[in-house]
Amino acid sequence: MSLPALDRHSVVPLYYQIQQRLLEQIRSGTLKAGEPVPSEQELAAGLGVSRMTARQALKSLCDVGLTYRERGKGTFVSANKLEKNIRQVLSFTEEMSARGMRVNSKVLSFETIPATEEIAAALRIPVQEPLVRLRRIRCAGASPMGIESSHVPERLCPDLVRTFDPSASLYQALYERYGIQMAVADEVVESALASAQEARMLKIARGSPVFLFTRVSCVQSGQPVEYVKSTYRADRYKIRNRLTRLSRELLT
Ligand code: GLP
Repeated sequence: MSLPALDRHSVVPLYYQIQQRLLEQIRSGTLKAGEPVPSEQELAAGLGVSRMTARQALKSLCDVGLTYRERGKGTFVSANKLEKNIRQVLSFTEEMSARGMRVNSKVLSFETIPATEEIAAALRIPVQEPLVRLRRIRCAGASPMGIESSHVPERLCPDLVRTFDPSASLYQALYERYGIQMAVADEVVESALASAQEARMLKIARGSPVFLFTRVSCVQSGQPVEYVKSTYRADRYKIRNRLTRLSRELLT
């Protein structure tokens, strides 16, 4: 792939010029989702710049989520934003599998903690009741999509902390081992800016927009069984709602 020559007399930094040329190729569809972008070596040799300048250009595209890196393989164009279907109660594994994407989870912690007032109220349990808390970075392939912190009363899943592989599907384990099947969920979505720590985990620039989800999942009887706080990358997700309008007679 050839990129237009760089303007060496311009005040615009070379890495930025390369970034803009690659961006143009992505916008115009010359480079499509899933396709590799030129490597550091290719850019350096092809455009006559240093490896460091080429690296900086590639990194800047990764930082905004337009491309992602696969270790040992190279840098690829990200898929368009994933649509978060908030009309169905899906697990992350189900959501990704439906899109043909490989799920990876980086476990941050998996432990038993006492319920705070906020969580106890949401789950309708006494304050201090033991909760299993699982914090993970959820990835599609090698690309981090969000950070999830799930809480389930330990009473409902007594030996989960000892027996569950926390990088596997939580919903599958809850169903198969304890018969807990999520049926409905209340979810609140807010926008926020990634903190330095979140940005590091999600491989985005600090202050990038993110979605904050607070979910309370319930079983068929309406009993709440899971409280989840998640931070998802806003450059990788969009949210679609379906609205219905009551018939005119019911509106008046
Ligand atoms: C989704 C939900 C979370 C839930 C998770 C379970 O991401 N928002 O509330 O904890 O799925 O995913 P998995 O079964 O893949 O572990």
